[in-house]
Amino acid sequence: MSDAVLHEVSEGVLTVSFNRPDKKNALTLAMYDALLERLASADEDPSVRAIVVRGEGGSFTAGNDLSDFMKNPPASMDSPVGRVLGILPKLRTPLIAAVDGAAVGIGTTLLMHCDLVYCSDRSKFKMPFVPLGLCPEAGSSYLLPRMAGRVKATELLLLGKTFDGATALDIGLVNEVLPPDAVDARAAEVAREVAALPPASVRLTKALIGQASRDLLLEAMKREGDEFIGRLRSPEAAEAMQAFFQKRAPDFSKFE
Ligand code: COA
Repeated sequence: MSDAVLHEVSEGVLTVSFNRPDKKNALTLAMYDALLERLASADEDPSVRAIVVRGEGGSFTAGNDLSDFMKNPPASMDSPVGRVLGILPKLRTPLIAAVDGAAVGIGTTLLMHCDLVYCSDRSKFKMPFVPLGLCPEAGSSYLLPRMAGRVKATELLLLGKTFDGATALDIGLVNEVLPPDAVDARAAEVAREVAALPPASVRLTKALIGQASRDLLLEAMKREGDEFIGRLRSPEAAEAMQAFFQKRAPDFSKFE
């Protein structure tokens, strides 16, 4: 198990921490595997009543490791990232996020699957799928327009611009914006509150909240997944990712 994903259980709350701070907690294949293992086993364990996901070292996560995307692009939704995405809409245990610093790509779209989200006032959210030659993932093309309205969702998903905690609050992506040193404590406090509630009622309420739109979400995730896998192999994505590591602006002028 990778030590780039830490975990601990206390008072009925599983806390999972991304722990690769020198790379802004960018998620490798091993980290997805570790995250999946933690989420799946917690969801089967009746003593775990809430899950908190967070990042070490002042970042939530810079999203998928871009060198993994270049070297080992997922070939199907049975890939490590696909399996993590697949479990999110099925989780029965409430998932609570504590966000500080960078929340990029899946670092933002993961939050759309969380039941409660707390972020710091220095958090920076971004879904740079189009600038990377990719397309929305994790159901964001379905979930974000429903949360934020179509034009705001288009602005965030098409332009891929960075947005702050105030905007995240405004579009309903987060519950509260807090000082950086208060985020973990607030998420832990709420997680303990959830853990003390009647568990069957909590699971039922979580399921009911998501139920009406679940089939449409799953369809959108399937469609996005197929397209995303194709885009990862596109010359546009190759140019964008090479440019990131070469610390230069990408040049898309030659593409049609
Ligand atoms: N994949 C791989 N490495 C990443 C990474 C990612 N997603 N995000 C950051 N890193 C690495 C950088 O390459 C850098 O490594 P180095 O020190 O060996 O050069 C290190 O993490 C620190 O990143 P840096 O860009 O210097 O930090 P920053 O504070 O200036 O910017 C981000 C932080 C998150 C805004 C910026 O790193 C970024 O945009 N990362 C890419 C995010 C992304 O596109 N994710 C995929 C979405 S699908």
